[in-house]
Amino acid sequence: MPHPIRFDQTDAVGVITLDNPPVNAFSLSQRIGVSEAITAGLQDPTIQAFVICGSGRMFSAGADIREFDTGVAAESPTLSDLISLIEDSPKPVVCAMHGTALGGSCELSLACHSRVAVVGSRIGLPEVTLGIVPGAGGTQRLPRLIGVLPALDAIVSGKPMTAEKAHELGLVDNLADDLDDLLELSVSVAHRLSSQHEPPIKTRDRDSHLREAQNGSELFDNFRSQISRRARGFEAPFACVDCVEAATTMPFEQGLAFERETFLRCRSSNQSLAQRHAFFAEREVRKVRGLRAETSQIELKCAAVVGCGTMGSGIAMCFANAGIPVIVTESKQDMLDRGMEMIRQNYTSTVSKGRMSGDEAEARLALIKPTLEFERVSEADVVIEAAFEDMELKKKIFRDLDTLCKTDAILATNTSSLNVNAIAAATQRPEQVVGTHFFSPANIMRLVEIVRGDHSSPEVLSTILNLTKRLGKVGVVVGVCDSFAANRMLYPYSRQAQFLIEEGAFPEQVDKVIYDFGFPMGPFALSDLAGIDVGWRIRQHREPNRPKHLRYSDIADQLYKMGRYGQKTGKGWYQYEEGSRTPIPDSEGLDLIIRTSRELGIDRREISEEEILQRCMYPLINEGARILEEGIAQRASDLDIVWLYGFGFPRYRGGPMFYADSIGLKNVYEAMQGFYEIHRDWLEPAPLLERLAREDRTFAEWDRE
Ligand code: 3HC
Ligand code: NAI
Repeated sequence: MPHPIRFDQTDAVGVITLDNPPVNAFSLSQRIGVSEAITAGLQDPTIQAFVICGSGRMFSAGADIREFDTGVAAESPTLSDLISLIEDSPKPVVCAMHGTALGGSCELSLACHSRVAVVGSRIGLPEVTLGIVPGAGGTQRLPRLIGVLPALDAIVSGKPMTAEKAHELGLVDNLADDLDDLLELSVSVAHRLSSQHEPPIKTRDRDSHLREAQNGSELFDNFRSQISRRARGFEAPFACVDCVEAATTMPFEQGLAFERETFLRCRSSNQSLAQRHAFFAEREVRKVRGLRAETSQIELKCAAVVGCGTMGSGIAMCFANAGIPVIVTESKQDMLDRGMEMIRQNYTSTVSKGRMSGDEAEARLALIKPTLEFERVSEADVVIEAAFEDMELKKKIFRDLDTLCKTDAILATNTSSLNVNAIAAATQRPEQVVGTHFFSPANIMRLVEIVRGDHSSPEVLSTILNLTKRLGKVGVVVGVCDSFAANRMLYPYSRQAQFLIEEGAFPEQVDKVIYDFGFPMGPFALSDLAGIDVGWRIRQHREPNRPKHLRYSDIADQLYKMGRYGQKTGKGWYQYEEGSRTPIPDSEGLDLIIRTSRELGIDRREISEEEILQRCMYPLINEGARILEEGIAQRASDLDIVWLYGFGFPRYRGGPMFYADSIGLKNVYEAMQGFYEIHRDWLEPAPLLERLAREDRTFAEWDRE
C-alpha cells in the first residue's frame, strides 16, 4: 500500500506532507509513511530538521476513527510510537498547521519542537465528544505547554481553539498569515532550531506549569463539580479530568500509561460506541438518495419569512445570525411589532449574559427587515412560511408567493404536520416547494426536518441541506406523512407516559426515570414548559383523526380546563413557586390523577422504573421502525440524529434506534408484544421490528443493506 505522504527536501529541511484525503486522518499507512520518512531523515546527514504539514483543506482530523473497531489502531507504529519518535528526535521537528489540527494530530503537534499555525485555523482535542480521552499524550503534554486550567477547559469541552488563542496560550509559537507564509515560516523556524547547538527541548520536560497545580486536588474537585450538570451522565469528561490530574501527580511516563489505560477503557465503553455512532450518523445524514456532490445549487443571498410569531421570529434570527439579510412579513402591524420585540429582547438577553457584543447584536438586527408589504417577498431567494397551522391559509400564502417570487426562488413551509404535497400543489412550481420544519425555539434548537415533497427538485433539496449547515443546523431529509418523523415518534412516547399515570405512576416518577435515562427533562416537565394550552391546541387538530378504537387520556385536557397551562400560569402537571422553574408535585394535580383512574375503573398499581422506561421508549422505537419501512426516513441513524438534536436524547446512548440495537431488537420486540397483549392501543410491534428481531439483526445492519 503506498503511504499517503510526500517527502521533499528544502535546503537542509525535510518536509513531510500528509496526503491522505479527505482529512489526512492518521491511518496505519500514514503513520508508517511519517515514521519511515523521519527514520530515513535521521540517517541522512543532508537533513538537519523536519517540517510536518498537511495537504488539502487541513493539517489533519486526528487518528483514523474507523480503525478503532478493527484493531488496526493498535498496529505498529501506533500514533503514540510515532509521537515518541518525533519528540525524541535529535533533529528538530516543526509542525505546520492550517485548517484544522484535531485529536491525534494536535497531540502530534504537541510533541514537535515548535508549532506554527495559519491565522484562523482551529486546533484542539475533541476526543471527549467521541466518548474517549485523548490517547496519544494530549492530556500529559497540553497542561505542560499551556497550563493546567486552560488545558482542562480545552480537553473537557473538546472545543477547538483558534490559532490566535492557541498562540496567546503558548500552544502555537508562531502565526502565519496564510498557507504560502506557513511553509516558509516553518522552514525558517526549523533552520533556526537546527542551528542552535543544544538538543531541542521536549514538551515532556517542561514542567513549570505543572508545579503551579501540584497538590492542587481542590482545583480538580472544583472543576469536577463545575461540570457536573453540563456533563451529567457522560463518563469521558470526568475521565479527562482524571488524566490531566495524573499529569500533575505522576512522572511523565506513568501519566502517559495512566492516560493510555483510561483511553482504552473509554474506547471500548458503550458510551464511546454510541458517541462514535452519532459522529458518523451526522455525516451519513447529509448523503441523500438522489442527490450528488455535483447537484447544482441555488444561490441564496436574501431570505424572507412569512409570519413573525413564535417560530418566524426565531427563524429570522437564524438567518441574521448567519449573516443573511431576511425580510419578515406579517399580516398586522401589532403582530409585526410584537415579533420584532421578541427578537430584540432575545438579542438583549444574549448581550446581557456577555455572549455577544452590543454592536454585533445591532448588526444582526439590522439584517432583519420587518414589513407589512407582502410583495417584498419578491426580493428573496428563499421564503420560509411560518404562519398559523391552517391548510387553507397556507395554500393561499403559497398561491401568492407563486405569483410574486422569482422563478427560481425556493418556497418552504415550516408546517409541523400538514401535507407538503398539498401545499406545493397550490403553486405552479411544486418542484421549488419543500418543508423546513424548525424546532422551537428555532434560534436555539439545531434540528431541521427537511420535508421532501413528491416533486421537490434535487437542486432545491441540496440547497436547503447546505442552507441548514450554513445556519448551524442539522438538516434531516424526511418524506411526507402526518407530523413527519420527529413528532410522529414523540407521539406514542407521550401517549404512554399519560397512560402510565392513569395506571398508577405519578408524573414525578415518570419524569425521574426519563431524566435519569439522560434526557434534559421528562414528558410532564416538558409539557409544563411548552404549555399545556399549546398541547391542547395541537390535539384539537390531531384527535379528530384518531381511529376511534384507540384510547385517549384526557387528564391534560382537564388541566387545560382548570387553567393549569404549565410554567406560564405557575401550575400545570406540577406547581411552581413565583420566579422558579422547579416542578413541585401538588395535591390538586395528584387528586385529579387519582380521581381519573377511579372514574376509569383502573385499580392503580405500583409501576416499576423498568416498565416506565420501556413503555416510553419502545413505542417510539416501534414507530421509528414503521417510518423506516414506509421510506419516510432513509436510515435508522437519521432517526437517531432527529432525536439527538430535536429532543435532547442522551448522546452517550447514540439515539433511540442505536439504543434499541444495543439492547437487542429481540428484547424490544418481545416487550412490545407483551405490552400489546395487555394494553392493545398502538403497541402492536411494527412488521420491520418483528422481522429484524426474528432474524436476529439490527437497525444498523438494515441501514447497510
Ligand atoms: N477518522 C476517520 N474519518 C474521519 C475523521 C477521522 N478522524 N474525521 C473525518 N472523517 C471522515 C468523515 O467521516 C467523512 O467521511 P465520509 O465522507 O465518508 O462521510 C470525511 O472524513 C469528511 O469529514 P466531514 O464531512 O466531517 O468534513 P468537514 O470538513 O465537515 O469537517 C472535521 C472536518 C472538522 C475535521 C471533522 O471531520 C471532524 O471533526 N473530524 C473528527 C475530529 C476528531 O474528533 N478527531 C479526533 C479523532 S480521535 C483521536 O485522534 C484519538 C487520539 O487521541 C489517539
Ligand atoms: P404563531 O401563532 O406564534 O405565529 C404565526 C404568525 O403568523 C402570527 O404572528 C400571525 O400574525 C402570522 N400570520 C398569520 N397569517 C399570516 C399571513 N397571511 N401573512 C403573514 N403573517 C401571517 O405560530 P407558530 O407557533 O410560530 O407556528 C408557525 C408555524 O410553525 C405553524 O405552521 C406551526 O405548526 C409550525 N411550528 C410550530 C412550532 C412551535 O413549537 N410553535 C414548532 C415547529 C413548527
